[in-house]
Amino acid sequence: MSLFYTLAVLSAALSPVYAQKYTLTQDLAGNNFLPAFKYNASVEDFQNGGNVQFLSQSAAVQQKLTYVDDNNRIIIKVDNTTNGAGNSAFGRSSVYLMGNNMVNIGSLIVLDANHIPFGCSVWPSFFTQGQKWPDQGEMDIIENVNLASNNQFSLHVGDDNCNLPATSSSNQTGKITNGNCTVVPPLDINTGCVAAETKPNSFGTDFASAGGGVFAALWDTNGIAMWFFSRPSVPSNIGGTATPDPTTWGQPSAWFPASACDPTKAFGPQILTLYIDVCGQFADAPGLWDPSPCKAKADQCFQLVQDPTNYDEAYWEINYLRVFTQNGGTSSTPSSSGSTSNSNSNSAPASAPAPASASTSATDSAGAPNPSTTGSKGAATRSIPTSWFFTSALGLVALFWVF
Ligand SMILES: *[C@@H]1O[C@H](CO)[C@@H](O)[C@H](O)[C@H]1NC(C)=O
Ligand SMILES: *[C@@H]1O[C@H](CO)[C@@H](O)[C@H](O)[C@H]1NC(C)=O
Ligand SMILES: *[C@@H]1O[C@H](CO)[C@@H](O)[C@H](O)[C@H]1NC(C)=O
Ligand SMILES: *[C@@H]1O[C@H](CO)[C@@H](O)[C@H](O)[C@H]1NC(C)=O
Repeated sequence: MSLFYTLAVLSAALSPVYAQKYTLTQDLAGNNFLPAFKYNASVEDFQNGGNVQFLSQSAAVQQKLTYVDDNNRIIIKVDNTTNGAGNSAFGRSSVYLMGNNMVNIGSLIVLDANHIPFGCSVWPSFFTQGQKWPDQGEMDIIENVNLASNNQFSLHVGDDNCNLPATSSSNQTGKITNGNCTVVPPLDINTGCVAAETKPNSFGTDFASAGGGVFAALWDTNGIAMWFFSRPSVPSNIGGTATPDPTTWGQPSAWFPASACDPTKAFGPQILTLYIDVCGQFADAPGLWDPSPCKAKADQCFQLVQDPTNYDEAYWEINYLRVFTQNGGTSSTPSSSGSTSNSNSNSAPASAPAPASASTSATDSAGAPNPSTTGSKGAATRSIPTSWFFTSALGLVALFWVF
């Protein structure tokens, strides 16, 4: 009996993978969301060359580009009322939001949205970036342009040892369209390593008509995993008061394993970034614009910018953004220096479902700032012992069987 007990305890102890706990460290929803970001105002898009101007907080609020709607959803949009006809230097108003609290290794980021900006010339992105770019890396969780129907997950790093082997395709449902994560901005090498979503409804009009969905990114010492779930397939442990359990989510859409790209070296503390660009290096790329249906609307991207009716779908409608940290890991310390990191191990993404169809690819180049951040952080603690108990119970049953 005491041997039985010892073995039972041992069996429980041998299930650390399932004992992973997540602590909710940023819970951004409703009126908490916008105050958690700094508005990176800029009269010009120096980074990506878009035909856009990024407004200050006061201007954006006054022009109703950022607000919380009657359903407590966060709306972040491009100006679709100003007619820029006749002004050849016209830059359409938008916003570039950067989180006050940085995210460290050992974090799980979850964003639930009903609508992602789309339309010819529209380039939305939800991503994270280090304070030094590209040395401290960038993780693009949601990004694509124009009328694209699928999301693209990508990494952009300065580290020269960051390459996805072709074999890593086996542990993700997405399709790798470029394996080299290293970017060299002076040489215009900006694509990064890209996994194109193969599940339906991950972007554009299809995403919205399916009721939106959830994107998640898990960054820990095992690597970086990113998932997309269309509304009808959102796991029950995402949202509400549930605590997420990525081990139950099946294969991620994108998997950048530590063996291919060291998640402790290629990335520093990350700044949550959400914005909408108009034209610019990605949306306007010749290889992309010309074959797209947008070419029928205008020969070149910039020709669409003056007409506000092209931007009726250029808005984010977000239910919440949450950041969880693993087993007691602390949330980020907003500071202008250094790279702190707290790491905890976690399992590689669990194996599971098979991908559907293949899809298109493209290049891009997002982000790049060097901000100084300040702010406070919220905290609430939750844990997810459910599957742990389940596994332990299975262990007990198995042992009972043996004895
Ligand atoms: C892919 O998954 C298998 C099975 O879980 C694992 O052994 C392998 O290390 C994984 N490969 C990568 C690159 O993560
Ligand atoms: C990846 O790209 C970088 C930048 O162009 C280059 O220096 C490096 O050699 C490439 N790595 C491989 C394995 O091709
Ligand atoms: C602008 O876009 C919104 C949806 O984001 C839409 O409700 C509105 O009718 C559009 N047009 C104008 C002129 O505001
Ligand atoms: C703000 O955005 C611009 C792009 O317009 C970028 O170049 C710049 O680095 C950002 N500023 C900060 C402080 O990150």
